[in-house]
Amino acid sequence: DTGAAQFVPEGKDWAALRSAAAGCRGCDLYRDASQTVFGEGPVPAKLMMVGECPGDREDTEGHVFVGPAGRLLDKALDAAGIDRAKTYLTNAVKHFRFVERGKRRIHQTPRRGEVVACFPWLREEIRVVEPRLVVVLGAVAAKAVLGPSFKLTEHRGEVLEHDGLRVGVTVHPSSVVRAEDFRESFDAFVADLVAVQKAVA
Ligand code: URA
Ligand code: SF4
Repeated sequence: DTGAAQFVPEGKDWAALRSAAAGCRGCDLYRDASQTVFGEGPVPAKLMMVGECPGDREDTEGHVFVGPAGRLLDKALDAAGIDRAKTYLTNAVKHFRFVERGKRRIHQTPRRGEVVACFPWLREEIRVVEPRLVVVLGAVAAKAVLGPSFKLTEHRGEVLEHDGLRVGVTVHPSSVVRAEDFRESFDAFVADLVAVQKAVA
């Protein structure tokens, strides 16, 4: 349980990374989750998007962004003129974190220690995908890539340079799903996506 690094094969391609990640025990989250949900999409890809961690549906199906947050993301990508099929989608943390309430599994935000433990997989995905822009969706992904003191609200819609990487900042689609003023939140999310993707246009 001392991080993913010991499970990451050195200098391997995407397929080898994905198979190795299936056996990762770098933190406690593998114990209760169904499976590792690795990132997916074209390799290489100009655009990479990083979410938080798989949800209930992703955990069951083994694919990223196939639940409610994924549907919202699909609509926003459409509205922003971004092709999901050309985008590499992944998460900061590769296992579902949840608590059980009766028959329901309620998503829990991953802890900092889990984000740090899982980062070697994201680092390797960035190496093999070679994105021109990495869009971080929400605070967990933003802090995973930009550091723990990063303040999302001060930088949303911006493109920053970090460790030789161009990083576009916006909110997580789940926050839009839950928003009281849905229309306004959705439009602001789409506006961020339009703004940051200019960096790869
Ligand atoms: N939320 C995420 O951050 N990622 C997913 O894959 C699904 C929901
Ligand atoms: Fe490994 Fe990441 Fe899963 Fe933890 S969450 S077991 S570090 S793949």
